[in-house]
Amino acid sequence: MGSENGAMENLASSRFVGACVLGGLVLGAAVLAMQLGRAPPMGIRRRKKQPVRVYMDGCFDMMHYGHCNALRQARALGDQLVVGVVSDDEITANKGPPVTPLRERMIMVGAVKWVDEVIPDAPYAITEEFMKKLFTEYNIDYIIHGDDPCLLPDGTDAYALAKRAGRYKQIKRTEGVSSTDIVGRMLLCVRERSSSDSHNHSSLQRQFSHGHNQKVDDGGSGGGTRISHFLPTSRRIVQFSNGKGPGPDARIVYIDGAFDLFHAGHVEILRIARGLGDFLLVGIHTDQTISATRGAHRPIMNLHERSLSVLACRYVDEVIIGAPWEVSKDMITTFNISLVVHGTFAENMDFLKEKSNPYAVPMAMGIYRQIESPLDIRTTTIIKRIVSNHEAYQKRNEQKEASERRYYEGKTHVSGD
Ligand SMILES: *[C@@H]1O[C@H](CO)[C@@H](O)[C@H](O)[C@H]1NC(C)=O
Ligand SMILES: *[C@@H]1O[C@H](CO)[C@@H](O)[C@H](O)[C@H]1NC(C)=O
Repeated sequence: MGSENGAMENLASSRFVGACVLGGLVLGAAVLAMQLGRAPPMGIRRRKKQPVRVYMDGCFDMMHYGHCNALRQARALGDQLVVGVVSDDEITANKGPPVTPLRERMIMVGAVKWVDEVIPDAPYAITEEFMKKLFTEYNIDYIIHGDDPCLLPDGTDAYALAKRAGRYKQIKRTEGVSSTDIVGRMLLCVRERSSSDSHNHSSLQRQFSHGHNQKVDDGGSGGGTRISHFLPTSRRIVQFSNGKGPGPDARIVYIDGAFDLFHAGHVEILRIARGLGDFLLVGIHTDQTISATRGAHRPIMNLHERSLSVLACRYVDEVIIGAPWEVSKDMITTFNISLVVHGTFAENMDFLKEKSNPYAVPMAMGIYRQIESPLDIRTTTIIKRIVSNHEAYQKRNEQKEASERRYYEGKTHVSGD
């Protein structure tokens, strides 16, 4: 601990010296900062055009709009947001195997429109060594973290060092969703399916009606997980949207789907779709449409949750919250759609065999194109991953749920963004 203090004091005092020198000589300051191999101190930084760089880290496993909202808030505390994504090994060692491998988590985080840079293999708990690397190599000004305490294995505050150096900022936890909650919804969906497979509808009904069924209550991940705390507000939608329409002569590309459990496969198909035009309009199907085509246990995420995840993606310009199943002539005219695309790995490819092909109009107009999905990930892939890790998750969920419950029981008024 002594050496830690010493190191941070050195850092602080050299910043102080830098500030004094810089009082008169701005150019000199920049040179000094370069010689020191570190970003110039904050006070000076603000006068110059140099961007304020903020850092946030996380596992981003089962990424959802809560993560996106945290990244949005972090970005608002600076000009550039650098995100550290924890390695698979570190996650496995600290909380059990991740559902999403690092490669996919990198794609997900990199696609969030508020993220400027992504660093792979960040440590699970921030170390002094890594923090110094952030300040010197990555020119980070502030380290950002949520208001939930982050403790090291020895019980000390993981961000104590950054706090002492005056380089720590905090954001509010996003209300209403957590990975634990989503995993719970998925496990419940799988249980529902296996019960219906054995045609035991009475037990299924009981499970739904008051949730007092043993299976739900003792599963560790069952009880109450279907209840979403998420309350969609128009303000949140505004925060997530680009607020811009297409420019003059823009070529508008349309893609529709469920976008349930938004994953790297979705990101990749959206990236390609966006590349085919100037403005990407995404139609998000209603919960009813999805239940009707994929079964009552779907979607896992509701329409508003799915819309926020899609809106947070940098390749998306606009969404239709509750798009019709069929792409009509009227819709194509209203939105001036030049091209309608569909991915080859989309979950529902049966439409070609159906009598009412939803893409019949764009096909007849010659503006329909099927695009090759670069990643063979479907929403069912994600659900299968969870189920195969079921045991590990149940254990992990039991612990996390207890702390979630404590949070909601102890929670009072929540202010902030
Ligand atoms: C149906 O569920 C009930 C209650 O969980 C159970 O007692 C019964 O054995 C189940 N029947 C079948 C055929 O699985
Ligand atoms: C409709 O889209 C085309 C590009 O496909 C563009 O040239 C045209 O200007 C657009 N029309 C309007 C009214 O924006």
